[in-house]
Amino acid sequence: MTEQTLANLMQETRTYAPPREFATQANGTADQYAAATADREAFWAEQARTYVAWSKDFTQVLDWSDAPFATWFGDGELNACYNAVDRHVEAGHGDRVAIHFVGEPEGDTRDITYADLHAEVQRAANALVDLGIGKGDTVAIYLPMIPEAAVAMLACARLGAPHSVVFGGFSAEALHSRVQDVQAKVVITCDGGYRRGKPSALKPAVDTALEHGDTSVAKVLVVRRTGQDTAWTDGRDLWWHEALEAAAPEHTAIPVEAEHPLFILYTSGTTGKPKGIFHATGGYLVQNAYTNAVVHDVHPETDVYWCTADIGWVTGHSYIVYGPMTLGATQVMYEGTPDTPHQGRFWEIVQDKKVTILYTAPTAIRTFMKWGEDIPAKFDLSSLRLLGSVGEPINPEAWMWYRRVIGGDRCPIVDTWWQTETGAIMISPLPGVSETKPGSAMQPIPGVTADVVDDAGQSVPNGSGGYLVVRDPWPAMLRGVWGDPQRYQDTYWSRFPGMYFAGDGAKKDEDGDIWVLGRVDDVMNVSGHRLSTTEIESALVSHPKVAEAAVVGATDATTGQAVCAFVILRSEAVAEADEPGEGAELVAELRAHVAKEIGPIAKPRQIMVVQELPKTRSGKIMRRLLRDVAENREVGDVTTLADSSVMDLIKTGLGGDGS
Ligand code: WT7
Repeated sequence: MTEQTLANLMQETRTYAPPREFATQANGTADQYAAATADREAFWAEQARTYVAWSKDFTQVLDWSDAPFATWFGDGELNACYNAVDRHVEAGHGDRVAIHFVGEPEGDTRDITYADLHAEVQRAANALVDLGIGKGDTVAIYLPMIPEAAVAMLACARLGAPHSVVFGGFSAEALHSRVQDVQAKVVITCDGGYRRGKPSALKPAVDTALEHGDTSVAKVLVVRRTGQDTAWTDGRDLWWHEALEAAAPEHTAIPVEAEHPLFILYTSGTTGKPKGIFHATGGYLVQNAYTNAVVHDVHPETDVYWCTADIGWVTGHSYIVYGPMTLGATQVMYEGTPDTPHQGRFWEIVQDKKVTILYTAPTAIRTFMKWGEDIPAKFDLSSLRLLGSVGEPINPEAWMWYRRVIGGDRCPIVDTWWQTETGAIMISPLPGVSETKPGSAMQPIPGVTADVVDDAGQSVPNGSGGYLVVRDPWPAMLRGVWGDPQRYQDTYWSRFPGMYFAGDGAKKDEDGDIWVLGRVDDVMNVSGHRLSTTEIESALVSHPKVAEAAVVGATDATTGQAVCAFVILRSEAVAEADEPGEGAELVAELRAHVAKEIGPIAKPRQIMVVQELPKTRSGKIMRRLLRDVAENREVGDVTTLADSSVMDLIKTGLGGDGS
């Protein structure tokens, strides 16, 4: 956190009470806080029975005797796909639109009802069974934002086969390690998707990932989206539409135990390889349906909800697939980028589909601010009644802009704090109850106990900052790191005994409301996505010309943080880089290399070639000092440096623009 942001936060005095008309119809009510405080377990049991259908009811709510390994609704049984699809059809809502799909090419739209979805998930589940998938088998999903991504996830859930969705922007290498880690038997992908006006191939990355020949993958199901030429491996590759057509039309969802893993999703940490965070079926579904109802205030009969996240991140899992569909909501799903074919695309979609609830990220909001308010002004946004924000701290200026320009000064804003690990929203206003403040996530939702503590784990007084923790287990909490229970304990439950440490810094203001200040470790947050410095450093060092690399996140007006890399070249490469014009070429080569190893999102904004890196005596890179350089600040305290002349070397070596 820069001092600038802190100062900004501290000065904030504006508050907004919920509009009265909104409050009268809101799903989230003040008495829920009281009920949850009085008896947390009884509160969650009630939500579990209100929002989720159980094929076998549970008798025990929480078992925490094996902490930090939790069991929620332990003897209950359910099926997530049945909850998200079948029961809406059974209740007579088959004709309701589940997904208004908007493809990136103009005019490429498709409405999918719950009945359509029901037909598709049954065939898809049978197709997977035909490929040998059953309860407990893992399936990797590598797809762009098309309805088949949701169908694929739900079909897996229908069988009790945990899915591992890999974001379509990740590279073949990243896909390979994730497929490998979960031992996936099947990969579901497509020929390509539309990105910035052009078909962009996806299948080649799967082919490259599987070329290693060391994976457990036997079959690849390929959705036909763009129709582009696609290389084929006979015997391994099958078209999705052909497999579904050949499959039986009826399939009964298989009930699983509440604790049966629903999915695995990888997220970055400070050290080592990405962690496979896994979630259990029952608790995850309960907290997602509940929060989607009370935080996003979804009313399935009347709302048109739109979460702009990609299905490859946890936001897409929780608030495109499992939350809204469990409620039986109608939602928009958009394939493309916000500026294709024009910078008003989002607002055109809001206008055309009469979107009532919009859930997006601060990085997007800042981009829209940059493009100018005359763009949304060309569209009718009067259908909107609630706005949400997620992924990183939202600056008060961006919050105010969102409220005024997009929300017409009438829509409440919910700034929702949560993580891949928490599975569902943890800290957020309830839009019909809470007064909101621009930039604050306010209070834990009913049933969640979050706090800000000091180094010793003591709750800090109002007006002070510290570490954000969760005090009690919550239904949607991660159940572990796939295949590594020790890492789960070490990473999340050891910094403050008995508390979940989220990795974020936060402060309580004078009213006790929570302001999340961002990561306290070396994890960056770029455009709302968590990236680890270690992974990008490893990618850089894997390039033959690089000897050592240090990566830091520097404040960036649009993406929140931007990746800045410092590299030391191998001696053979140094002479070459000194040739006129070669430096820029090398930087371009390294950026492309990172994109290939991890994905375009990890591409450094800046790469600075240096001769030394600042290190402590124990050899730990002092990223704090590099951050000063990356953010063009006066370099801070260097007394713990092993060699204090290093910083001078770095600064003089950089010369003018430092890139
Ligand atoms: C990290 C989690 C939650 C889904 C998307 C990201 C940051 C998230 C907020 C918010 C301030 C936020 C935190 C958190 N973050 N939401 N409303 N205010 N910071 O999921 O990739 O697991 O990242 O995102 O730093 O720890 P994720």
